[in-house]
Parts: sequence; structure tokens; C-alpha cells
Amino acid sequence: MRKIQMIIACLLISTSAIAADKDNRKILALSEAQRGHVLEEMRALLSGTRNILAALSTDDMAAVSKYARPLGLGMAHKAEDHLKGVLPREFMQLGMFLHRDFDQIAADAESRQDPKLTLRQLSDAMTKCVACHDTYQIRTTPVSGQPAKTHEHGRHHH
Ligand code: HEC
Repeated sequence: MRKIQMIIACLLISTSAIAADKDNRKILALSEAQRGHVLEEMRALLSGTRNILAALSTDDMAAVSKYARPLGLGMAHKAEDHLKGVLPREFMQLGMFLHRDFDQIAADAESRQDPKLTLRQLSDAMTKCVACHDTYQIRTTPVSGQPAKTHEHGRHHH
């Protein structure tokens, strides 16, 4: 009897593990190029965040500001051209809020020069990284609605 209970328990655990492995996050259907832009921005966010932490570890608030600034809204405006109308509104909004946080971090690092404050702001800002990654995944699709010829033409210029 005990053995059967153990087997049932094992089955339950393994099926729930399989269910958890499946990626149920909302799909963003992007072209290869669009995916490239999003992921490039993501890597800049990661390395920028790392640089901010390194600067904080030596209380170098000028460097904090220097590394936070490029992650601000200026970064969002650059990306907008490529991704306008492609990404859902909530996704864009979350991104905007995150960029605004980095502008605030840059400004306060200069004016307040308080590493503890910056750490709090950074960990708050990073809840947005976590929230978005919990919600979305990217899948690439062939470019649709575009004649194949235009696509080929574009390719030769690269
Ligand atoms: C508005 C949504 C959103 C926010 C905010 C966000 N990300 Fe992402 N990020 C994504 C998506 C979507 C992917 C692709 C995930 C997938 O397809 O599995 C991604 C992927 C990444 C990757 C992988 C890059 C690669 O080249 O594969 C890194 C690193 C990353 N994000 C870092 C961050 C960091 C650090 C932050 C916060 C400072 C952040 N992201 C905030 C949506 C977001």
C-alpha cells in the first residue's frame, strides 16, 4: 500500500514538473530583425545594470549616473522606430516605466549621491525585468505582408 502511494506521489510530482517546463508565456511574434533589436536592448540592460552595481560597490555615484543614463528614455526612443506597432501596448508601457526608472536613478545619483537609495531604486526597477520575463517570450515568424522581392532587395544591401 505504501509503495503504491509512493508511486502515485512520484507520478504527480513528475507530471507537474513537465507542466512547469512548458513555456506558457504570451508569445511575441517578431521577425528575426525585430527579435535582434529587442535582444540587443536586453543585453545592454543587463550589462548596464552590472556596471551600475560595480560603480555602487565603490560608491562612485558619478559612474552610476554615467551608466544609468543610456538606459533611460533615450534608449526607448531609439528602439521605437524599429518596433512601433509590433509590440503590445502593455509591453511597451512596462519598458517605458523601466527606462523612466533609469533616468530617475541617473538624476538621483547625481543630486542625492546616496548609494543605498540607488540600490533600492535599482531593485525596484528590476521587478519590471522579472515581471516582463515572467509574461512574455519571443518567437520568430517569417516576415508577413511583405512581397518576397522587397525582402530579397533589402537583403542585398546588407
Ligand atoms: C517589457 C518587457 C521586458 C522588460 C521590462 C525587460 N525584458 Fe529582458 N527580455 C524580454 C523578452 C520578451 C525577452 C526574450 C525572452 C524569451 O524569448 O524567452 C528578454 C530577454 C532578455 C535577455 C536575453 C538576451 C539575449 O540575447 O538572449 C536578457 C539578458 C534580458 N532580457 C535582460 C533584461 C534586464 C536586465 C532587464 C531589466 C533591467 C530586462 N531584461 C527587462 C522582455 C523584457
